[in-house]
Amino acid sequence: MKKILVTGCAGFIGSHLCEKLLAQGHEIVGIDNFDPFYDVSVKKRNLDNFLSHPNFSFIEADLAERENLKDEFHEGVDLIVHLAGKAGVRPSIEDPTGYIRANVTATQNILDMMKDRGIKKMAFASSSSVYGNTKETPFSETMDVSNPISPYAATKKTCELINYTSHHLYGLDIVNMRFFTVFGPRQRPDLAIHKFTKLIREGKEIPMFGDGSTARDYTFIEDTLQGITGAIDYLFQNTGVYEIVNLGNNQPVLLRDMIAAIYEATGEKPNIKQLPMQPGDVDITYADISKAQKLLGYQPKFDFKEGVKRFVEWFDKINPSIP
Ligand SMILES: NC(=O)c1ccc[n+]([C@@H]2O[C@H](COP(=O)([O-])OP(=O)(O)OC[C@H]3O[C@@H](n4cnc5c(N)ncnc54)[C@H](O)[C@@H]3O)[C@@H](O)[C@H]2O)c1
Repeated sequence: MKKILVTGCAGFIGSHLCEKLLAQGHEIVGIDNFDPFYDVSVKKRNLDNFLSHPNFSFIEADLAERENLKDEFHEGVDLIVHLAGKAGVRPSIEDPTGYIRANVTATQNILDMMKDRGIKKMAFASSSSVYGNTKETPFSETMDVSNPISPYAATKKTCELINYTSHHLYGLDIVNMRFFTVFGPRQRPDLAIHKFTKLIREGKEIPMFGDGSTARDYTFIEDTLQGITGAIDYLFQNTGVYEIVNLGNNQPVLLRDMIAAIYEATGEKPNIKQLPMQPGDVDITYADISKAQKLLGYQPKFDFKEGVKRFVEWFDKINPSIP
């Protein structure tokens, strides 16, 4: 049994991860500040699934405030999974400073705390958005990612860089996990599959940005969790680690096919409005996962349509009032 600190524990990925690690017998300290990026009641509902577990303790704190990391909660922590942050590409264009604070400043605070407290290991939530509009596919970790096209992407790349600096200076072991559009039950309400399902259930039309030919390498939450636990195991088994790994699915799905899959899962008739592409959006994300396969034993298993079906079932369960 290890003591693992999970930041962003009330969020979509963080709440699933806490449940999985608790089921594996670990002791978990979770931190979240209930950032109002989306409805706080959704985060509280996520947290309720494991808040009373005897091996879980929760701290409500903003990681961008240095003072909040002076607490005793990190005594004996073996490893940090740092998932907290402001997600979302489009809102970052409106609020770049907020993203720098929640993503970069908070990450630097954690790195400083690790150095001060002798916590050696961290798995960090980076993003496929660092690849920007790279034309070459699939995206490999060796590619140059110096051209982020949104403040969000720029903050994630910056975090990978400051993580390297702390690895170099203080010998911290770090795996940067580049997630690729994670979906499944509890998916953030701002993300397309969730947003579209809600609109369909409300009898409204779906806004489709562009002609539907953009593509995303959607990754089902259980596959992402398998990648994160692979990174945790790798960190516990090795020292001198600084790695960047893609945790995608290696199977991009066209926007129009994603929309068709949701209509199929909901059993409703298509009602789609085409709109211009949005600034900051990339054309395609497509992960080369060979490094994660080799290093972490990562092997995504979920069929996209099956994942969408599971999402819709969850959505209908938590929204019984939507006809
Ligand atoms: N979901 C995806 O498809 C995806 C893709 C790439 C990267 N990521 C990254 O993975 C991580 C988790 O994503 P998610 O989809 O679960 O997002 P989420 O918004 O559901 O979870 C993030 C959590 O972090 C918390 N948080 C934000 N700022 C904080 C702060 N300053 N102090 C403490 N807590 C704070 C939020 O309240 C939230 O509960 C994020 O860093 C995100 O950028 C997610």
